[in-house]
Amino acid sequence: MALFTWSDEYSVNVSGFDTQHKKLVDLINELHSAMKEGKSKEVLGKIIGELISYTKFHFSAEETLMVQAKYPGLAKHKEEHEAFTKKVLEFEEKFQRGSVVLSQEIILFLKDWLINHIQGTDKKYSPFLAK
Ligand SMILES: [Fe+2]
Repeated sequence: MALFTWSDEYSVNVSGFDTQHKKLVDLINELHSAMKEGKSKEVLGKIIGELISYTKFHFSAEETLMVQAKYPGLAKHKEEHEAFTKKVLEFEEKFQRGSVVLSQEIILFLKDWLINHIQGTDKKYSPFLAK
C-alpha cells in the first residue's frame, strides 16, 4: 500500500506543477516501498538520488515562474526550498557514508514536508501564477 496518495485538495492550480508534485509523491512512495521491502543500500541510494534531482528541477521550475510573475513571496519561498534541499543533501551524504540508515522517520519527514509546503507555501502563489 502506498504511503500516501495524491488528492485534488493539493492542487496549486498550475497544471505543470501539480504533475511535478505528483511525481514527487510517487518518488517518496517508491522510496517507502523499497525500504519496507528491505532493498539494498544501492537501490535506496538510487531512489534518493532521483528524488533529489527531481526536487531540484521542480524547485527551479517554480522559482523561474515566480520570477516571471514577479511574485512578491519569492524570497521567502526560495528560502524554504533551500533549507529543504540542504537538509536532504546532508542526509544523502550521511546515508552514502553509512553513518545513517533510511528510517520511517525520514520518510515521514519527506512526506510531511511536501504536503505542508504544498498546502501552506505553494498554494499562496496560485492567484499569481494560475492561468
Ligand atoms: Fe515550492
